[in-house]
Amino acid sequence: MTTIRPLVAGNWKINGLTAQLAELQALKDRLASEPALGADVLVCPPATLLAQARWALRGSMIALGAQDCHPLPSGAHTGDISAEMLADAGASSVIVGHSERRTDHGETDALVRAKAEAAHRAGLTAIICVGETEKERRDGETLEIVKRQLRGSVPEGARATDTVIAYEPVWAIGTGLTPTPEDVAEVHGFIRAELGQLLAPREADRMRILYGGSVKPANAKELLSVKDVNGALVGGASLKADDFYAIVSAYRGENAA
Ligand code: 13P
Repeated sequence: MTTIRPLVAGNWKINGLTAQLAELQALKDRLASEPALGADVLVCPPATLLAQARWALRGSMIALGAQDCHPLPSGAHTGDISAEMLADAGASSVIVGHSERRTDHGETDALVRAKAEAAHRAGLTAIICVGETEKERRDGETLEIVKRQLRGSVPEGARATDTVIAYEPVWAIGTGLTPTPEDVAEVHGFIRAELGQLLAPREADRMRILYGGSVKPANAKELLSVKDVNGALVGGASLKADDFYAIVSAYRGENAA
């Protein structure tokens, strides 16, 4: 069986003024005494904090990511930020296709793929989000939706070293609701099989598949021990160092999921 080193990523969304960097410092201090931690840790603050966060995280094991990018490297696109700019500011990863962007900004699978390709062009890891709405789940369309999003959003030639998939059921985001471990196992197993159709076997077998949606200290161990769950994408609970640390600690002493 392929061993995959898990990733626990925090998505701050539009939360975080300068004062929030104190939580990053607190997280850094706590993780400094965890040399045996069995997971990589990533924090994705708002773009406005990237440059400061980069300095705050210097010398730590915590990587820095961003929440979105424009497909183009530069040009006349007021207010947008390119993947190259994010890399220049210190990011090593960028989330693309989060359901909030798909909903708020009408992002299509094709646009998400273009953003993932931009991330790769700039040397960033693309964290590509997929997931069904409550109605889609009720209507029994979950796997069909996830399949369509994967086929439309994952670039050809994506590699396990430059791409992460995040399964985030829309109805579980910020609601306190989570799928059962059995449901998570079904979707993650399906994603792994779909990746096998889309990518070279070596890449499909090694690509991280994160679960996201109401991950909290109280449910992290259960959700993260599900087969084919290779880490978490955490929203609300990533804003408090204590909570995020507790989630990361689900991997204490482990080397792989
Ligand atoms: P919550 O953890 O707040 O439910 O958010 C999940 C999410 O959308 C992470 O990208």
